[in-house]
Amino acid sequence: MPNRLDLPAGFRWGAATAAYQIEGAVDEDGRGPSVWDTFSARPGAVRDGHTGAIACDHYHRYPEDIALMRDLGLDGYRFSIAWPRVLPTGAGKVNEAGLAFYDRLVDALLGAGITPLPTLFHWDLPQALEDAGGWLNRDTAHHFADYTAIVTDRLGDRVPTWITLNEPFVHTVFGYALGTHAPGRTLMFEALPAAHHQLLAHGLAATVLHERGLEVMLSNNLTPVWPASSSPEDAAAAEAYDALHNRLFTDPVLLGRYPDLSALGVPDDIYGAVHPGDLDLIHTPRLDGLGVNYYNPTRIAAPTSPGLPFDLVDIPEAPHTAFGWPVVPDGLRQLLAHLGKVYGEALPPITITENGCSVDESTTPDHPRIDFLATHLDALAEAIAEGADVRGYYTWSLLDNYEWAEGYHQRFGLVHVDFETQRRTPKASYAWYRELIVAHRARRGG
Ligand code: FCB
Repeated sequence: MPNRLDLPAGFRWGAATAAYQIEGAVDEDGRGPSVWDTFSARPGAVRDGHTGAIACDHYHRYPEDIALMRDLGLDGYRFSIAWPRVLPTGAGKVNEAGLAFYDRLVDALLGAGITPLPTLFHWDLPQALEDAGGWLNRDTAHHFADYTAIVTDRLGDRVPTWITLNEPFVHTVFGYALGTHAPGRTLMFEALPAAHHQLLAHGLAATVLHERGLEVMLSNNLTPVWPASSSPEDAAAAEAYDALHNRLFTDPVLLGRYPDLSALGVPDDIYGAVHPGDLDLIHTPRLDGLGVNYYNPTRIAAPTSPGLPFDLVDIPEAPHTAFGWPVVPDGLRQLLAHLGKVYGEALPPITITENGCSVDESTTPDHPRIDFLATHLDALAEAIAEGADVRGYYTWSLLDNYEWAEGYHQRFGLVHVDFETQRRTPKASYAWYRELIVAHRARRGG
């Protein structure tokens, strides 16, 4: 059985973060407000009223964080660019100080021998755009393309590969359908125009990136969907869920069409959002790499009450993380095999752009994280041996950080952050990951 040391030569080792989760400095140097500033200030929206106002103070402490990355031996670092730092109202006037921050960050990464892998949108939409309808407004897709041009004109000479969006599924469902994330809308399936406009934004931005000779990726949150039984009802429910969670965000990009959403009661044109030609705009700029964020499989049963066409059920036989997420390393292998089967030749090379787990602060050393990473990387090596083309792995996350609606309660970092003092302390998993990278390079080169 292949294991993590058998990952291919040249396999890229990384870690990931996102702007609102680590930067802080929300009022500094001309940054405009984002939907997360607004949402987190709303009473009851986030656990204990936590906000990202200070977070890891990475905006000021990035040199220290890059030193940690260099010491870890990372090949690449995935971070996100805060749209409201670059364009405080989302469109129009550019904030030079915001661009200058990412300029410094990129140069510091390159100086440390680390390849920057930026994500252009990781959920922190400028509030001014939300006030105009946010992702429910088609114009937001065009503003995103303009923002992409501005950022890549500045950084494209040093940054070869760009991720357009992070997890449009999670942003649409939590942000627009259920309201548990910013911007806190509760539209249920009528949220789906927000999904289409994000995909359109991806397509328009991908064209901008290709015009500049840059590579394009999209990071999707993907999950293997397990029917709860072999009954046809459970199978149909699982298919409906797979269409919503996985295929809605991947088929248009890779195949140029939407999956059948009729089981969800969603019209083919997604409530009028899909205009003639849109699918070409989304599909034609070929994806250079698919980013896969994997955390857990999803078990689905037929609905027991009217409403949704599926029920989400637990996976009690699996251990669970501090966040309550089931731990199923083989799910990663299953997912990659499934993607190969569904998309075949249309599937570009894959990079795991997130994978990791939250471990309670009191659990030191953080052995559950080491087990999580080790078993998932072994499953990845198996998937590759079975034919998956996976080029790299970015663990979530470098630092303990602001975990959205959970505030600072879920700790995903290889590095502990004391949010009172901002002191960084590498955990046991940090040392383990560093040794793994050294051992893998010694064995496979790279
Ligand atoms: C993903 C998000 C990331 C982080 C992890 C735990 O869905 O992309 O920002 O919150 O979950």
